[in-house]
Amino acid sequence: MSVAIYPGSFDPMTNGHLSIIKSGLVVFDKLIVAVLRNPRKEALFTVEERVEMITEELQGAGNLEVDSFDGLLVDYCKRKNARVVLRGLRAVADFEYELQMANMNRHLNTQVETVFLMANDAYFYVSSNIVKEAARLGGDVDRLVPPGIARRMKAKLAATKGT
Ligand code: PNS
Repeated sequence: MSVAIYPGSFDPMTNGHLSIIKSGLVVFDKLIVAVLRNPRKEALFTVEERVEMITEELQGAGNLEVDSFDGLLVDYCKRKNARVVLRGLRAVADFEYELQMANMNRHLNTQVETVFLMANDAYFYVSSNIVKEAARLGGDVDRLVPPGIARRMKAKLAATKGT
């Protein structure tokens, strides 16, 4: 059985992530969406909220697990018996960062391969950071993230305003 890990910050999950997950479910027997616990990175949503939001959006979406991890990704892959890391590629700008990560992961564990899938072209410019920035400034991001996540973003931004 081919198991792939789709790791990321997912703060929050966008429609671009969603398109990669849907493609990943076609290619692999099982997909594990893994949210990184990164105390060094300030996030809008807690890891628990992100896991809950992704789980909600992907209910009934086939052989999928939503989880969180800390430490090295390759060690997490080992714990999960997964030999594939799935990453999405958008524009050329992603390439250098992804190349660096894939090679570092290969250096750390030669048993783990990174596979790239292209995000749906409608979401080529969409990233969590750009969506958060636009939403913070009052921009409409409803078509860029799933509806449940758009609702949660509005609530979270309203609650954090002025704090
Ligand atoms: O969504 P992101 O922030 O681009 O995802 C980055 C992520 C989580 C895939 C990457 O930071 C990661 O794998 N971190 C775990 C720590 C690790 O294994 N580092 C060494 C390889 S880069």
